[in-house]
Amino acid sequence: MAPPFYITTPIYYVNAKPHLGHAYTTIVADAIRRFHQMRGAETFFLTGTDEHGDKIERAARKENLEPKAYADCISELFRELWPKLNAGFDKFIRTTDPDHIRVVQHILQKIYENGDIYFSEYEGLYCYGCERFYTERELVDGKCPDHQVAPDTIREANYFFRMSRYQQWLIDHIQENADFIRPERYRNEVLSFLKDPLDDLCISRPKKRLQWGISLPFDDQYVTYVWFDALLNYVSALAYPDGERYRTFWPHAQHIVAKDILKPHGIYWPTMLRAAGIPVYRHLNVHGYWNVDESKMSKSIGNVVDPLKLVGVYGLDAFRFFLLRDMAFGLDSNFSEVALVQRINSDLANDLGNLFSRTLTMIHKYRGGTIPAAKAGAERDFDLHLSEAARELVAEYDEAMETFGFHRALAAVWQFINRMNKVIDVSAPWVLAKDPAKKDHLDAVLYHLAEGLRIVSGLLYPVMPETSSTMQRHLGMDPEKPYYLLERLRAWGELTAGTLLPETVSLFPRVDPKSIRTAASESARPTPSPQESKEKGLEEIEIPDFQKIELRTGTVIRAEKVPKADRLLKLEVDIGEVRTVVAGIAQQYRPEDLIGKQVIIVANLKPAKIMGIESRGMLLAAAGKQVEALATLDREVPPGLRLR
Ligand code: MSP
Repeated sequence: MAPPFYITTPIYYVNAKPHLGHAYTTIVADAIRRFHQMRGAETFFLTGTDEHGDKIERAARKENLEPKAYADCISELFRELWPKLNAGFDKFIRTTDPDHIRVVQHILQKIYENGDIYFSEYEGLYCYGCERFYTERELVDGKCPDHQVAPDTIREANYFFRMSRYQQWLIDHIQENADFIRPERYRNEVLSFLKDPLDDLCISRPKKRLQWGISLPFDDQYVTYVWFDALLNYVSALAYPDGERYRTFWPHAQHIVAKDILKPHGIYWPTMLRAAGIPVYRHLNVHGYWNVDESKMSKSIGNVVDPLKLVGVYGLDAFRFFLLRDMAFGLDSNFSEVALVQRINSDLANDLGNLFSRTLTMIHKYRGGTIPAAKAGAERDFDLHLSEAARELVAEYDEAMETFGFHRALAAVWQFINRMNKVIDVSAPWVLAKDPAKKDHLDAVLYHLAEGLRIVSGLLYPVMPETSSTMQRHLGMDPEKPYYLLERLRAWGELTAGTLLPETVSLFPRVDPKSIRTAASESARPTPSPQESKEKGLEEIEIPDFQKIELRTGTVIRAEKVPKADRLLKLEVDIGEVRTVVAGIAQQYRPEDLIGKQVIIVANLKPAKIMGIESRGMLLAAAGKQVEALATLDREVPPGLRLR
């Protein structure tokens, strides 16, 4: 039996409506929870809202509402949204819940009595937007790096948490537990922050300045600093200290946050837990930011993406798939509807949708809708080799999902899907069907395709739960059985020959790229049509002009980041000879995902020096304002082949 699994999202501030960024984190939490269900684990999924502090108080006043009434409204928007995105939380916590308040006060008292909270006069630089004091060295040009405003100097007496006492312990813990904070770049970020002496943390606000918070149990003239209050939700939700859930799930806690709140989760939270005598969480999983049109989503730019609008236009599973397939967990990603539509058309409608409907249609057409039996040894005899590929796929998937590598797991599933598409193309069932002597061959092809689709349906459960269950229904499987359990996906041959299948369905209709109507924001537009290009006065060239450009196939043999350049990767590409190419794709591709990838290189460009590296060639990619996808070929060919 797999160990229990506890997953949390940040609790979201109630000063703004939910958007794409919140939806991503919550869908990730849902997907990873479903993955642990596949392992047979008992799971607990927590989300909720963070409702205290100046920020919320000010937002409420702006609406002429009491903070609680205001928080009730926005909190409800979050609570109602998640089921619509198929994100089935087990508990929705609000920091205004009496149970949470009790736990916060209990823990404050405990730490106070242990001597790790002290009272002191303090003068500091305070940013109202962040609701925290800044040190000089944290400011950028004297301004808060998040809000771009100079902080106010505030002098007040406050309570402080002796965070500095736990600095060395935290460094040791992170060093001894390599995956405590992952991916590694964020672990390094925290370790590098910890190279400087850690200040103690101011954990109170005088009531004369702020009332909207939890009163300190040992001084009712103060409320608790909102982060100290909010972080404790992760244990209060489990009814710490005596709750059954706390005992079952806390030892297996994993948090998901984006990079914006790395410091409170990577530094404040573990030291708070340590001071309170609570074991620390297992993993902090940190993802990057979704930008829209290369810019941070913001109300003022007007590019805030509404997840429900997208779901309304493109469908829930397509939306979930896009988010998890397009963002490499840990890196930033750029959102565009063009990219979403491309994914729907190529990966979903074309690769998966076609495979599914072709397979089922053939079973209906050639075998009356009944899954045929494959003779023993048929895979080898007819060169199908799907069971072995499936075994490798499930192992690779398991490893990738464990570490939040959704995009890698999905890429592996799609390799398998395309392998099955190839089996259809190569074996040409429509030809086999004409020859009665080929009956065993056709039976084997159809059975193995259906069985391969059973595996795919299971593996898609975390990301596309609806598609996954539609697929299994149409494969004639018993909906009562948890078909997605990994142990069942590791076995080959579970589909029962003789099962009569229901009518086929189309899983994903194609979307006409011309119909993109910017459902949720003003994002990138599709490439102009030839007519539009002409109108815009694109220069026409002669064939000999084109032939001057030498395009060659290449295989990436090494890839690494270019230091101090966020967007650049240095690649070694075999194009018959090994070339160094510097490419601006670091935001979209991780070096390790490129190794072995076939690419197309402009081989006769004059060399250029980029960040001191001589780049000899250019990588072809589809790009609007930024790179959307690398150009590649539809099948593997030797490196160095010329494209004409
Ligand atoms: N209330 C605090 C969290 C307290 S947790 C104890 C908070 N709230 S928030 O509403 O600002 O949510 C921040 C989180 O929302 C990010 O960490 C991330 O999970 C999600 N995102 C918000 N914008 C995002 C993007 N543009 N892209 C990806 N995720 C983002 O911070």
